[in-house]
Amino acid sequence: MLREIAPPNPLSIAADDISYWTQVRSHFVLDPGHCYLNNASLGMPPKTVAESVGEGFMLLSRNPTNAKRTLARYIAETVRPGLADFLGAAASEIALTRNASESLYDIVNCLDLKPGDEVLTTTQEHPSALKPVSIKMERQGITLKQVTIPSPLESADQIVSLMDSGITERTKVMFFCHVTRGGYLYPVKRLTSLAAERGVLSAIDGAQAIGMMPVDLSDLGCDFYANSLHKWFLAPSGTGFLYVREAIQDLFKSLYISDQDASLGAARYESLGTYDLPTRAAIGTAQDFLNRIGIQNIQRRLRMLSDHLKAGLHDIPKVRLLSDRASDISSPGSTIFDISGVDLPQWVELFLDEAKLHVDDHTLDGHCAMRISTHYYVTTQDIDRFLEKLVELIKRLA
Ligand SMILES: Cc1ncc(COP(=O)(O)O)c(C=O)c1O
Repeated sequence: MLREIAPPNPLSIAADDISYWTQVRSHFVLDPGHCYLNNASLGMPPKTVAESVGEGFMLLSRNPTNAKRTLARYIAETVRPGLADFLGAAASEIALTRNASESLYDIVNCLDLKPGDEVLTTTQEHPSALKPVSIKMERQGITLKQVTIPSPLESADQIVSLMDSGITERTKVMFFCHVTRGGYLYPVKRLTSLAAERGVLSAIDGAQAIGMMPVDLSDLGCDFYANSLHKWFLAPSGTGFLYVREAIQDLFKSLYISDQDASLGAARYESLGTYDLPTRAAIGTAQDFLNRIGIQNIQRRLRMLSDHLKAGLHDIPKVRLLSDRASDISSPGSTIFDISGVDLPQWVELFLDEAKLHVDDHTLDGHCAMRISTHYYVTTQDIDRFLEKLVELIKRLA
């Protein structure tokens, strides 16, 4: 289980190479007949990742002393540097956490915000980003300012200009998604540049981005980046990270370590106490699996699948596609749509019970919509099966 992480695959694999992607699919153990179109909620890790977690627990049961040391060393010497490398960051900039929510809480809690300071964000944030700020509002009198971003998105220019107009001399930090819950892609680099120009910190909720497409954190130029590795990266449930740019670490005080030992780097932001060693160690297995395919190949495959889905949705009367078909404002993995007058969230269970199709609702931005997420293990036949069921339900119920 504690294997070295393979280097990234440099080969270009066609997004529709059936024999290649069928072979990849054979590494997943989804129950026969089921079709998992809800990866944006919780990723479906390949068998090897599940086995790795199991083996880690077996090691702990057989020889706890030895296993604890071995797993902790593997995490420090292989997992953290390997992940940092994949993200274009230094190992000292990565704190390993349980999920994006924990990372977002840490950002808000560790920031030295004073009464009257403003936190600027958008109306499209996940509750995990908004909750910690609301608590600070109640307890410390800071102000949360939410810029309304239209849904469907109109353009990247519009997002930048709306955020720009929201900045005041009181703004201390700007929070925004890299990819929103519904799969909208934000112009992150332009937004981090805007923040830097205006002397504001930039904190990105990247829960829906890592593992879906290449992301280079130093190139993005953000100060903080929060992620859940149990989504698109396909690591075990309960894994995530917080990136804290090296240059701001001395100003960003850890809640966990009082002496602020700089030699710890971002590890000082990790919660104290014993953590789930086998689960965290299996991030290495997930990264190894991902690298063997290659993140560029994954991104192309995802784009092909979501293009196929969008084309199919576009052809169904009554369906309104909320995700844009242009790739600059839509991520490759998640697609949202609605049907006027239909409570689509109520159909989520019907899809599962009647057709073994796992889908999710999408109720942010006032929508009563549905979200379909298509990771690389999904096939175009799976998508067609979903589209056929949708047509049938529309005929029956809409
Ligand atoms: C955009 C976004 N941010 C944060 C989260 C929270 O992720 P987690 O529950 O893994 O912490 C989610 C979960 O779906 C999300 O979509």
